[in-house]
Amino acid sequence: MSFLLKSECELQAIIAQMSLKEKIGQMNQLIVSHENIEEKIMAGDVGSVIIINDEDIERSSQQKKLASQCSEIPLLVSTDVIHGYKTIYPIPLACSSTWNPELVEQVAYHSAQESAADSTDWIFAPMVDISRDLRWGRIAESAGEDTYLNTVFSRAWVEGIQKSGSVAACVKHFAAYGAAEGGRDYNSAQVSERMLREVYLPPFKEAIDAGCKTLMMAFQDLNGIPASIHPLLYKILRQEWGFDGVIISDYNAILELVEHGVAENLKEAAYLAIQAGIDVDMMSNAYSLHLEELVLEGRVDEALINASLMRILQLKQELISEQNKTVSNRDDAKLALQTALESAVLLKNDKNILPLNKQPESIALLGELAADRASLLGTWSFLGEPENTDSIQEAINRKFSGSAVIYNDAQDRAKALDIAKQCEKVVIIIGEQACMSGEAHSRSEPGIPSAQLELLKALKESGNEVIAILLSGRPLILTEAELYCDAILLAWHGGTYAGDAIAEILAGDFNPSGRLTCTFPRSVGQVPLNYNHRNTGRPVLGEGITQFAEAYKSNYIDQTNEALYPFGYGLNYSQVEYKDLKILEPNIKISECLQVEITVENTGSHDCSEIVQLYVRDLVAQTARPVKELKAFKKVDLQAGESRSVQFSLSSEDLGYYNWDNQYQVDAGDFDLWVGPNSKSNLYTQFSLEK
Ligand code: BGC
Repeated sequence: MSFLLKSECELQAIIAQMSLKEKIGQMNQLIVSHENIEEKIMAGDVGSVIIINDEDIERSSQQKKLASQCSEIPLLVSTDVIHGYKTIYPIPLACSSTWNPELVEQVAYHSAQESAADSTDWIFAPMVDISRDLRWGRIAESAGEDTYLNTVFSRAWVEGIQKSGSVAACVKHFAAYGAAEGGRDYNSAQVSERMLREVYLPPFKEAIDAGCKTLMMAFQDLNGIPASIHPLLYKILRQEWGFDGVIISDYNAILELVEHGVAENLKEAAYLAIQAGIDVDMMSNAYSLHLEELVLEGRVDEALINASLMRILQLKQELISEQNKTVSNRDDAKLALQTALESAVLLKNDKNILPLNKQPESIALLGELAADRASLLGTWSFLGEPENTDSIQEAINRKFSGSAVIYNDAQDRAKALDIAKQCEKVVIIIGEQACMSGEAHSRSEPGIPSAQLELLKALKESGNEVIAILLSGRPLILTEAELYCDAILLAWHGGTYAGDAIAEILAGDFNPSGRLTCTFPRSVGQVPLNYNHRNTGRPVLGEGITQFAEAYKSNYIDQTNEALYPFGYGLNYSQVEYKDLKILEPNIKISECLQVEITVENTGSHDCSEIVQLYVRDLVAQTARPVKELKAFKKVDLQAGESRSVQFSLSSEDLGYYNWDNQYQVDAGDFDLWVGPNSKSNLYTQFSLEK
């Protein structure tokens, strides 16, 4: 009997014939290389497996075959395709800096297809945790600090991953994992219900509305209750949102309920997890060891297991029935290059030092990161191939073949300075290695290494013009470093084709268009420093150091409240002027839409892509509202000298908030509205919503 295309009734019939042990087996997920795994698969004790490295690929397809010989229910193969599988794309934080969800949907689709060709059915992505703390290593996996932007990218990732129908996405980590105190991974999060609903949950809701088939619970405790078993989270998911997909724990998270101190032992942890609503136990063996006993003791109702099993079987059936769909023509290399190009952010470009003229006589290329291929690949690149990735050095050599490119790893500073002195241009690669960000890689001092800082300083003091290429998995503290740089291009960990992208941008073959989706603070002490903070009862009025003189205001006495680089910021080789901001009808009824129009003009001499951003502020509401909130954006191409009108339409539904009772409401009243190139721009107007 084939497992394909069964109705719910027929699946019920299958469930009725299964032993309790077989049912629980479907709820058990192990890594491909787990001890005795083949025997467990044959005994029906495993429902899905996880690939984590190269050797696992072949073994997972053998395990699939083995499972099909023993049971009609297929084994699912899952893995983390976070920013590519073998072809590696820029880290998700970089992808979000493209402000191009259509491009990111392509990235998601292509990487899912590349992994599906190796038998993957289930991808643990996207991560949509709002991340406002640069110390947290997993900020690399997010779309940054803004809820609206994370919502837009959440849909793009889910739709891309699931486009072929044969691969399931898994939105994670539910919820508020990014609010880990002190930016320390796995640490507790304290988030009020209002903040949860307003800031942290919308990207998850959007993923579910986009059809995301599965969801992963977070590791950390949320207000004292581990998220894995948090009743409010399940109530929101299952009852309020009607999510009927599979819920999986994070890696070993059921066992960790014991460490959290909410379960005495693994059996009690299994009890809490099944009662809460976890369908699949990733790696704890809690269900496989204890669920049967808990049912036989009468503590767990078998109906709960049947309900989880039905969701798992429905997922398997949906995926398997689509599996013979042909993979479309893919050009992963081109897409990876385009994404690396669009994700790079030009942070500084004094005296238009960039782009380089095509063939400088000589270029000093400094810093060991210039030769470090693995660091281009970023945090989740287990299957990425450093050996098939060009280093920055190789790409620059190729692009500037008419120049003498002299590479030095800068281990010997005097030597590096000497080379810089002899060359017409100085390019230095600074920042983090890939292994300095990602899961379990939080940093308390997220700056550039001190040797790099000293070299930058010495280069500047010797009179060089310094062009810095910054590799990073997170925003870094650059307050001192930027003083010594004439230009800074943030290239993130840009993936397999990052080297080429950097070389093209340096040469001026591509005009950078990326914009920050996370604030770059001036110091760690300012964190969290998201642009969309509330006003407080005592906001500072001045800017910069004038703030220090403002007594009894919400400021520091030793640091301004301002960011080094604000949310939405990024330069390009041209200049764009914003003018004629108009609201077609500035007093609209709550049921109507607001029509906004602005003219953007490229007044420079390079063609460019401009990310036009629209922000609002609700001036009076029942709760204190953010001083600015991104509500819309458009990426527009402008030829040199071209002027274009850009329109936005906002519905009043976009202007609501959660009231005292945590209910979403839209109020009549006055709003400020800005349109500009970043969150600090001050071209603004006003409008009113009327009852
Ligand atoms: C991570 C998840 C990941 C899982 C499986 C965990 O440590 O938190 O994001 O999907 O491992 O690799």
